[in-house]
Amino acid sequence: MDSKKLHIAILASPGLGHLIPVLVLGNRLASLHDVKITILVITTTTSHAESQMLKPPSGEKLVDILPIPPPDISHLIDANTNMVTQLCIMVREALPGVRSTIACLKPRPDVLIGDLFCSEAFPIATEFGMPMYLYVPSTAWFTALTTYCPILHEQIDGQYVDQVEPLKIPGCKSVRPEDVVDPMLDRNEQQYREYLRIGIEFKFGDGILMNTWEDLEPISLEALRKNESLGAVVKRPVYPIGPLRRPIEPEGPKSELIKWLDMQPKDSVIFVSFGSGGTLSAQQISELAWGLELSQQRFIWVVRPPAKSGADESFFTSGSGSDGTPDYLPEGFLTRTKKSGLVEPLWTEQVEILNHPSVGGFLSHCGWNSTLESITSGVPMIAWPLYAEQRLNATMLTEELCIAVRPEVLPSKKVVGREEIEKMVRTVMEYKEGKIMRDKVRKLKISAENALNKGGSSYNNMCDLLKDAELRSKSLKSTSD
Ligand SMILES: *[C@@H]1O[C@H](CO)[C@@H](O)[C@H](O)[C@H]1NC(C)=O
Ligand SMILES: *[C@@H]1O[C@H](CO)[C@@H](O)[C@H](O)[C@H]1NC(C)=O
Ligand SMILES: *[C@@H]1O[C@H](CO)[C@@H](O)[C@H](O)[C@H]1NC(C)=O
Repeated sequence: MDSKKLHIAILASPGLGHLIPVLVLGNRLASLHDVKITILVITTTTSHAESQMLKPPSGEKLVDILPIPPPDISHLIDANTNMVTQLCIMVREALPGVRSTIACLKPRPDVLIGDLFCSEAFPIATEFGMPMYLYVPSTAWFTALTTYCPILHEQIDGQYVDQVEPLKIPGCKSVRPEDVVDPMLDRNEQQYREYLRIGIEFKFGDGILMNTWEDLEPISLEALRKNESLGAVVKRPVYPIGPLRRPIEPEGPKSELIKWLDMQPKDSVIFVSFGSGGTLSAQQISELAWGLELSQQRFIWVVRPPAKSGADESFFTSGSGSDGTPDYLPEGFLTRTKKSGLVEPLWTEQVEILNHPSVGGFLSHCGWNSTLESITSGVPMIAWPLYAEQRLNATMLTEELCIAVRPEVLPSKKVVGREEIEKMVRTVMEYKEGKIMRDKVRKLKISAENALNKGGSSYNNMCDLLKDAELRSKSLKSTSD
């Protein structure tokens, strides 16, 4: 490739949640590793936030972003088609557009990286003589489960969730049947078949990038690299290159919320947020409110109106109490917690809040990006998984890393009561156990920083990946000459 820069195309599957990790990866490769990056984004027509992201940023332009027009999949789905299946169908139908876009790119990219849902693009990479890598914006443990699923499929009869024994993944921590990821919940669904296919297709790639780092998951990484029984990934190089997360917004004027945090003692505030999408039942919101109040800790709570379940809808349209407390919170809640807490209607500034020295705990739904944001801010957690995918995260945080506590029973199965919430909050914020967790997570924070710095493990893994990609690309080019 003489003096010419290596040119990598990164393919992102539809949706903001997939685009952001790819953008962060692309920016890092372009800025730190001097690689030319073209990001191909399979767009959906629906997302406004997504089209905002695609506008060229005002500052320096590090990466080129090319939208792939959304394919029409209306004839292939119906009202019951779930998200994962839709996503896979969209990527499949967009492949001709991906192919023609790559064919027109000048200079032609040398290497293709696709996110987890883009493994069906392998034939395109082969056609154009590009090595192809997959980027899993998640953990090594999740990667191991995904790659081993085709083997579990043969070994196990009946639904995974009905198994009594934990699911054994060679060399890794076993997975509790109730913790399996969403697509594994029902083996009769199409999303399960898609997930299985992805697990098999892992082995077609030239390697796998993961948003994790060596010190966070040494056991699962070792298994992915060495365990002969693990399945598709074995003998594929794995590159833990994380933790990559959204950057902190450039400093603007301080919000009221940050000003309030400035006045609170160090590590004294628990931040409660279920991400941009999560809602709780009315009863659960009420118990959470009582639990926070009973714990007598300072808090910032991003609270949304409860998920409406038909019957109780009329119950919530009656407005708010005399002190402005919305009626899905206990009467007088805002008055009683005025000095100690802030209730926020909108999901905001999560990274800035977690990084604030006054914040000492995070009650979170455990999406991987929120988890990384908490770890890289050195904040211990209460793990409150809402959806299946988050349960693996919650288990890893509580049992493997020991930087979180979680409710006894999964919140999706049973309302978590106020006493249990009070106890969890006090554990993280006040008790000795919380202090131990805080020390642990601060060590991980430092290890994350070290991994990303020049000479650190994730930085070096990225260099190794680029070296490997360049060699493979050269040899593919020379064989096609
Ligand atoms: C692979 O996993 C199996 C089952 O957990 C274990 O017995 C074996 O020692 C592992 N092999 C290596 C090379 O770690
Ligand atoms: C992180 O989570 C938030 C809220 O759940 C979401 O809006 C955002 O798109 C996610 N970012 C990434 C990098 O996935
Ligand atoms: C953690 O949760 C996110 C969804 O929020 C998921 O994409 C990711 O794969 C999960 N990680 C693990 C280890 O399960």
